[in-house]
Amino acid sequence: MAKRFVIVTGGAGYIGSHTAVTLHEAGFTPVIIDNFSNSKPEVLEGIAKIIGGIPEFHEVDCRSQSVMTDIFQSYAAQGEVIGVIHFAAYKAVGESVKKPLEYFENNIGSTVALLGAMNASGISNLIFSSSCTVYGQPRKIPVNENAPILTAESPYGFTKQACERLIKDACKSNASLSACLLRYFNPIGAHPSALIGELPLGHPSNLIPYLTQAAAGLREPLTVFGNDYPTDDGTCVRDYIHVLDLAAAHVAALQWLEENDASCEAFNLGTGQGKSVSEVIQAFEDANGIVVPYIYGPRRSGDVTAIFADAAKAQRELGWKCERSLEDSLRDAWRWQKKLAE
Ligand code: NAD
Ligand code: WQD
Repeated sequence: MAKRFVIVTGGAGYIGSHTAVTLHEAGFTPVIIDNFSNSKPEVLEGIAKIIGGIPEFHEVDCRSQSVMTDIFQSYAAQGEVIGVIHFAAYKAVGESVKKPLEYFENNIGSTVALLGAMNASGISNLIFSSSCTVYGQPRKIPVNENAPILTAESPYGFTKQACERLIKDACKSNASLSACLLRYFNPIGAHPSALIGELPLGHPSNLIPYLTQAAAGLREPLTVFGNDYPTDDGTCVRDYIHVLDLAAAHVAALQWLEENDASCEAFNLGTGQGKSVSEVIQAFEDANGIVVPYIYGPRRSGDVTAIFADAAKAQRELGWKCERSLEDSLRDAWRWQKKLAE
């Protein structure tokens, strides 16, 4: 049977590596494109151990449209290229405030180049990594896909809004192009084998990598950013989704694009359940039998009080929903942290 290739930009990264594994399990052949700007070649070894073979890989910057076009065409000559999943981007909200031009250039530039390469190679299905950050502080929670897109709080958030817009416009102008804009809530956890997970490069700004490092004694106690929010326990509420559930949604979206005559559709990917920072700490302690050292500190600027997904559209249209619990995610996150410390 002809191979069914899926191009995975940023496939050596956190979500991309788990999606590459899930694509393989679903019978696709992932083709990873990454420049290791926020990942390491060892990730490919982890993927290889899980899937039982070295994945297709190209060390390339996605902004190089001509190189990307050559790669796409070489796979089209060997089988069928079903679509592209575009993870490659810079993702640190705080850093984007300090380096906005780098974020615009990389995140928006790579998406423009990618659309050009897809066009030149006749590839018609695109899945884009967007974020719940496009909603800002929503007026109504759970938030659904029709909620207004508010002015972005950060250059990072702006790049997600801009890429959504340019993909929508590209789909309008090209009837053969179809896209899913997947708005992730808070991805956490790792593959249960602990062979791949989120690579901690520098001081983690996200909750779970910091929490696991603090629990391992590698960092100062976790500072809970604010306990005076108008929520049940005063701490912020988010929707934490296991990275493998998120990965499975990409496979469902790809199959949906293959089967439907879609143009450009946005889907929320979350559990539909909001959990506070205090609840996450408690769940981590219950799941792992470890005490988390933490203190309460001031609010972090730019944090929204509460956001969680109405993911009914993804369940209805894609036939996808989360299978793993918060405890599952936190168990896998801790197993990964212990592996990193070996
Ligand atoms: P990550 O940094 O772990 O992975 C991104 C990968 O893309 C890295 O391996 C990096 O080396 C690569 N990359 C970046 N720019 C590149 C370029 N120009 N050419 C080639 N490779 C490049 O990030 P992640 O957490 O896996 O996130 C993946 C996507 O999901 C990103 O677009 C991110 O904005 C989005 N997203 C992430 C989260 C989250 O909390 N992790 C939430 C919402 C959306
Ligand atoms: C979660 C909660 C913090 C660290 C970010 C991006 C968003 C998306 C996901 C990409 C908040 C609290 C955190 C700490 C804490 N990424 N916290 N102490 O801010 O919901 O979303 O990642 O698209 O765009 O903004 O995630 O993990 O940083 O924070 O108390 O040391 O944990 O205040 O309530 P966030 P996070």
